[in-house]
Amino acid sequence: MNRKRRLLLLTALAAPVAYLAAKRPRRVAGAHNEYFQGLQAALQQAGLFRPTLVIDRAQLRHNLGRLQTNLPQNKKFRVVAKSLPSLPLVREVRAAMQTDRLMVFHQPHLNLVAAQMPDAQLLLGKPMPAGAAKRFFADHKPGAFKPARQIEWLIDTPMRLSEYREVAASQFGGKARLRVNLELDVGLHRGGFRAPRDVAEMVRVIQADPTLEFSGFMGYEAHASKIPDALGGPRKALAAAMKLYGECVQAAQEVLGAAFDPDALTLNAGGSTTYELYDESAPCNELAIGSALVKPTDFDTQTLLDHQPASFIATPVLKALDRTELPGLEAMSGLFRAWDPNTARTFFIYGGHWLASTVSPPGLQRNAIWGHSTNQDMLNASADVQLGVGDTVFLRPHQSEFVFLQFGDIAVYEDGRIVDFWAPFPEGSSTGSRA
Ligand SMILES: Cc1ncc(COP(=O)(O)O)c(C=O)c1O
Repeated sequence: MNRKRRLLLLTALAAPVAYLAAKRPRRVAGAHNEYFQGLQAALQQAGLFRPTLVIDRAQLRHNLGRLQTNLPQNKKFRVVAKSLPSLPLVREVRAAMQTDRLMVFHQPHLNLVAAQMPDAQLLLGKPMPAGAAKRFFADHKPGAFKPARQIEWLIDTPMRLSEYREVAASQFGGKARLRVNLELDVGLHRGGFRAPRDVAEMVRVIQADPTLEFSGFMGYEAHASKIPDALGGPRKALAAAMKLYGECVQAAQEVLGAAFDPDALTLNAGGSTTYELYDESAPCNELAIGSALVKPTDFDTQTLLDHQPASFIATPVLKALDRTELPGLEAMSGLFRAWDPNTARTFFIYGGHWLASTVSPPGLQRNAIWGHSTNQDMLNASADVQLGVGDTVFLRPHQSEFVFLQFGDIAVYEDGRIVDFWAPFPEGSSTGSRA
């Protein structure tokens, strides 16, 4: 073999080796920092040796402070109840933000809030089946809360409006009107009205109907924060959404004439990932926000850099092994470990498979071959991650909606201690609202 050919052959062999060496996962070492050590001690002191959802009250207050500062002066704040699904949590947020406005997304939550917060003004965040609206009335016990004045039902199609006309007639018998709010499709394309002329027609139909009252619009624009710069970016998408929103408000004004009073209407937009992009010029008069106050990982966005994570899942380590063995692949353990040093050890935790990512100690990872368990999930780590049986693993939920409901009472962490427990919303029972 001449020198040139030998060099070529060596290069051909070296290239994949270099590629693999570059791709080989780096060993990650880690231990709880002071913050998570404190949280672990507080949970153990409170006798919480089970999967627990924790809210850090100081971080929650920080986020409330950011919201107060960032919210444009002429926009009211509406609490997105599904993202903060606990009455005491909603109370805390309402008190800090001085608001009686809530957005509700689930019929049992609607009954609960109506019964427990009789001063609240409720806007539905999605169009409920008319049957669910009837069920609300069937379960609702008359009291201080007046559904005719305090609930705005969301309408997305002319068909749904007809169904709600029937709800209005059967519930109020002509004595009161059912308030209906029109869902606008301002770019999310999740349903609702898109053309101002269709909006005008709907407002006309509602105005002419003695059983219904037009209460405003809901135009959710979460897509805006996800639009890449190559497609114009979030600000441009939000501007387009608000242009269409403004045209729909204009359409309503033309139909309503002298009766048009924007301050009396609910002109809703939102949420968490877009609210910091708003200024006073937007044609809406309120923003619905929830998740930004507890900041799960889906909300680690460029638009929420000043908000801090305020919610964690804590769970004990049940078993710590100094090896990783996969059933049927025991002989491969050394190979897996040689490739990825972060598979050297195995931890089985109490529960698992939540919509969540591990956050402390750093260096924990899931095992793609072993899969998931909701009973005892497997986590792997390098030999340099400090964790043992009885220690706590911390995760951050990807979202608060639904995930917060999976742990029983939420533990409230403040000044190094668990100071309170907040019951999550019930998801429903066959006998109606528990309230
Ligand atoms: C209609 C509507 N408004 C606002 C929001 C914002 O909620 P969050 O701030 O929790 O993202 C949502 C979330 O799904 C929504 O569906």
